Amino acid sequence: MNEKYQLSESSPIRLERISRADLFEHSGAANLVVDTDTTILAVNARFETVTGYSRSEVEGTLSWRELVHPEDRERMEEYHRLRRVDPELVPANYEYRFITSGGQVRWGLLTGATLAEDSRTFLSVVDITELKEKESALGRAEELYRGIVQNQTELMSRFSPDFTLTFVNDAYCRYFGETREQLIGSSFVHHVLPGDLAARKAYFASLTPERPEDEMEERAILPSGEVRWQHWHDRGIFDEKGNLIEIQSIGRDITDLYLTRERLDSTIEKLKNSFARAVEMAGKIIEVRDPFTAGHQRRVARIAKEIATTLGLPENEITAIELAALAHDVGKIHVPSEILSKPGVLQPTEWSIIRQHPVYSAEILKTLETPWELAEIALQHHERYDGSGYPQRLSGEEIRVEARVISVADMIEAMSSHRPYRPGVGVERALEEVEAGRGIIFDPAAADAALYIFRKKGFEI
Ligand SMILES: [Fe+2]
Ligand SMILES: [Fe+2]
Repeated sequence: MNEKYQLSESSPIRLERISRADLFEHSGAANLVVDTDTTILAVNARFETVTGYSRSEVEGTLSWRELVHPEDRERMEEYHRLRRVDPELVPANYEYRFITSGGQVRWGLLTGATLAEDSRTFLSVVDITELKEKESALGRAEELYRGIVQNQTELMSRFSPDFTLTFVNDAYCRYFGETREQLIGSSFVHHVLPGDLAARKAYFASLTPERPEDEMEERAILPSGEVRWQHWHDRGIFDEKGNLIEIQSIGRDITDLYLTRERLDSTIEKLKNSFARAVEMAGKIIEVRDPFTAGHQRRVARIAKEIATTLGLPENEITAIELAALAHDVGKIHVPSEILSKPGVLQPTEWSIIRQHPVYSAEILKTLETPWELAEIALQHHERYDGSGYPQRLSGEEIRVEARVISVADMIEAMSSHRPYRPGVGVERALEEVEAGRGIIFDPAAADAALYIFRKKGFEI
């Protein structure tokens, strides 16, 4: 390397050895010297690269005005003039557009100085085209983002865990009827129903860096006093220590949906009740014919429901169990009452008639159109876990869970109740049978649940 370029603060003397010509040539920018009449007097190699013009094309012949975009020309001519009146009147540097020899428009950042000894100007230009492009891309992205955030109907907000708002979009302001100035920096706690506050706090506190997102349905009080429902999707923002610092929330009004759903729920509830009444009435048919078993199905339904609840079965299955239990023996209508109430041992032919009652029950229940498969459940209520039951000799999981639950309840109720032809043996004796039949006659889990509700929970028939 040439010694004269080795700049060092410790040897300032060397700076003097760098000629002006060297600085002009190698400063890294496109440099040019222009005359008062705008003629370009000298350019460096970088100028040639940036503009595409060779020295011979411009030096002493071309006016710098030729290289400037027409829209920027007037302003720069004014600067050119002012620089000669008082350099202080001209900005130290400014952006402008220049045109390359190929006709391409590019952006430059220009720094100019009038040379002390005469009125020529030294200009230094850095090509900032790429920077400008990035800047405008960023501007477009920001515009797009603002468009998305501000023009949409979803309510967007950001707030600290103490409910202080740090960001709201237009939709949020419109919805809550307050200006951005009113909302930002203030708490939205006055929109929360007092009774909901603790649950809302607990919900936000449940967001973690591992599980930062969650959604919820919430009520809010609007300035009009109206309470409306929203669905919110929340995302927690955490610091490096994992502390919740902000929550970003996107919501929409679901009041109409909510009210429709509530109405639907109550309609479904009414329908369920009608089904239940229809099923119970079907069950009653047998009790007219066979008063000795009166109340049996209702009691089985109560026990079965309790077992199902203890097992944690889904609500729909619990309902199915309760309803099917209410009519599981309705098929006994086809069994002659002499056989049903016969004391003592039954003949094989009598037994085979008795064993048909689940099939008849299913046939009757099939005629009721319900959302539950009550016929199938009733059909299986005498199946046994080990496959020794009837009528299909199903075993284990082949038997529907609803039927497995009813089977335990049915046995407990039947054993503990009095019959004209035999006295009831009591619940405790029935529970011993459940214990003995656990995993053989009965589903082990259903048996355990039955033992639990009677022995531990104090359930009574
Ligand atoms: Fe039965
Ligand atoms: Fe029964």
